[in-house]
Amino acid sequence: MSDYAERNQRQWDTWAPDYVDSARKSWASEPTWGIWSIPETDVDVLGGIERFAGRDVIELGCGAGYVSAWLARAGATVTGIDLSEQQLATARAFQAEHGLDQITFLHGSAEAVPLPDASFDLAISEYGACLWCDPHAWLPEAARLLRVGGELIFLTNGILGVLCMDEPGYHTTAGLHRPLFGLHRLEWPDDATDDSVEFHLPHGEWIRVLGEHGFQVERLLELQAPEDAASRYDYADPEWARKWPSEEVWVARKVRPPE
Ligand SMILES: C[S@@+](CC[C@H](N)C(=O)[O-])C[C@H]1O[C@@H](n2cnc3c(N)ncnc32)[C@H](O)[C@@H]1O
Repeated sequence: MSDYAERNQRQWDTWAPDYVDSARKSWASEPTWGIWSIPETDVDVLGGIERFAGRDVIELGCGAGYVSAWLARAGATVTGIDLSEQQLATARAFQAEHGLDQITFLHGSAEAVPLPDASFDLAISEYGACLWCDPHAWLPEAARLLRVGGELIFLTNGILGVLCMDEPGYHTTAGLHRPLFGLHRLEWPDDATDDSVEFHLPHGEWIRVLGEHGFQVERLLELQAPEDAASRYDYADPEWARKWPSEEVWVARKVRPPE
């Protein structure tokens, strides 16, 4: 495993217990997205969840598995893969509680999924592989796993919020704190409790790398926090996120086989 995968695995095994309560709510709810829990009915990330009935779906970095649960309930056959055994333990416990047999939770990295080419119609990630894996590693893997015509949907931090996060402190501000050019691997060295490694790309780079792996971008949703927004995360400021996008969703289609 890469240095960052080992660090992220350790970090998520440590963080997993803190995510059980929020996962319990998400497993029981209709789809809502991101740190502001924006209802699917307000943003239409999925373009109609019912169209995935009978389809094969993979969630890359599925964590506690609630996105997999929403899609399985809509009639999809779902595989969720995650590097953290502790996160998967949460996912499997809620799977048993909700009786959703049509999900397979796998332990492994989204950068090297032990499944055949062209097995899926949708690859999805909400703050999973799209944040913690290198785009130059997980995007070719997503392209390999998808059938031609299949879709890739991922939700991650809005790039403007990443640029505006101060250091130390890690609060989103109205000023720019890091360059956009060259943005790729990002760590938070001033937070002793956080050894994780994230990945972010400028929008132009996402479009270029997606295109390189046979994807055509169909939509980029910049999510606005709702008026009554609240978040459990210190870095997130609802007032900021009313004015600028703290989260973004990319929707792309695999239009040709990988080169
Ligand atoms: C914020 S959770 C996102 C998942 C889900 N939306 C949730 O909130 O439970 C991030 C997940 O990405 C997983 N992850 C990090 N690196 C990974 C990798 N290389 N392959 C698969 N999963 C990975 C972590 O273990 C963690 O469970």
